[in-house]
Amino acid sequence: MKNITIIGTGYVGLVTGAGMSEFGNKVTCADIDSKKIEGLNSGLIPIYEPGLEEVIKRNFENNRLFFSSDIEASIKKAEVVVIAVGTPQGENGMADLKFVDAVVDTISRNLNNYKVVCTKSTVPIGTGKNIVKKIYNKIQDKELFDYVSNPEFLREGSAIKDFLWPDRVIIGTDSDKAYKVMCDIYRPLYINKNPIAHTSVETAEMIKYASNSFLALKISYINEIANLCELLGADVHDVANAMGQDGRISDKFLHPGPGFGGSCFPKDLEALLAVSKNNGLKMKTVKAAIIANNNQKKRMTRKLLNLFDNDLNKRTISVLGLAFKANTDDIRESAAIDMIKFIIDHGGVVNAYDPIANNEMYKLFNDIHYYNNVYDSIKDADGIVIMTEWNEFRSLDFKRIKKYMRGNIILDTRNILNMNQLSEFGFIYDNVGRIKK
Ligand code: UDX
Repeated sequence: MKNITIIGTGYVGLVTGAGMSEFGNKVTCADIDSKKIEGLNSGLIPIYEPGLEEVIKRNFENNRLFFSSDIEASIKKAEVVVIAVGTPQGENGMADLKFVDAVVDTISRNLNNYKVVCTKSTVPIGTGKNIVKKIYNKIQDKELFDYVSNPEFLREGSAIKDFLWPDRVIIGTDSDKAYKVMCDIYRPLYINKNPIAHTSVETAEMIKYASNSFLALKISYINEIANLCELLGADVHDVANAMGQDGRISDKFLHPGPGFGGSCFPKDLEALLAVSKNNGLKMKTVKAAIIANNNQKKRMTRKLLNLFDNDLNKRTISVLGLAFKANTDDIRESAAIDMIKFIIDHGGVVNAYDPIANNEMYKLFNDIHYYNNVYDSIKDADGIVIMTEWNEFRSLDFKRIKKYMRGNIILDTRNILNMNQLSEFGFIYDNVGRIKK
């Protein structure tokens, strides 16, 4: 059991804190935002993440999980300090490390005994080396700390599951002592198989970027295959299924859609591209994934325009799904943003509905109509666009929809609607890479 302090209570920090306390460690989640900490101490969870509230509640009540806005005291009492603050995209694609730098500075001033300093935040390859230099220059004592890179592979909407049952845990460090401390934290994972890989710091940082950018490339690839399928009369679902039966390819992340969003893929790809460019290497595959993704979002808006014979003026479009993926309220880089902007720019009226992301989208577009259910949002609509693959959209009552809508146009950017039913009810529809029925 270890005494751990996590600095930063966003998606990564909160899930990591909850997960590490679930493993039996004593964890303090610290944040400078005292309002957020106050909320957490009264049971208010600031993010939507299935299963998170239950894990936090259980460990909070069993005195394994604490929340504090006293960063310094929280560092002083810890054996392991985990950096889990945001690394937003900065100039020319490089990750902005201002929050990380501030935390490193605070850590340097509070190393009252030996600690493992561990970075969970996604940071450009080479950042770990600079952090070690910064801390050493401040304290001039190599015995007082060791550094670890322990990147996260959490997907929003399944982050708790991904933390408690990870495919792998990467521990990047050149210190055997620190490696043993980290193995202690993740000990419960040994029960079935040992998912821990011990690497150098730079290798751990690279594994994170290489994994994320490959997943994004895979999505851009199947999106381009889908686009070609449309031109050649092939069906991308059958193509993807057959591809996925090859163990070297796997069927994961082969679902075509409107283009990937989220707080990770877009910024991680730009960051990797920037790091490679700064080192004199142009990564064409990463660049291609970004370009293909931007094109995919534009392609969806052109599909809608085509369905309305290039005239969206005064048309009411119901946009079903605002989050960048199902099971989250996060709209960062969501393809729905591009779609809503396009409809407005072309004189259309937007009726928006998402099971949980309405409030987030309202912060970006406060002058469109928001609804609390599908059927109110489609009343008198000329068309429907499905942007997020929420389960409730997979079983829409087409009879009711037909009755409520003014028009009969549906764009399904997630390929979740049954095409036979769409034809049966007389809808004019489009999707991504499917052979129309
Ligand atoms: C991603 C990585 O999966 C995770 O390992 C990393 O730690 C953080 O970034 P996240 O961005 O939360 O996780 O969601 P993810 O499920 O990867 O989806 C990202 C985007 O890709 C979403 O917009 C999703 O709709 C899209 N996507 C995903 C597809 O379009 N097709 C797919 O097959 C899978």
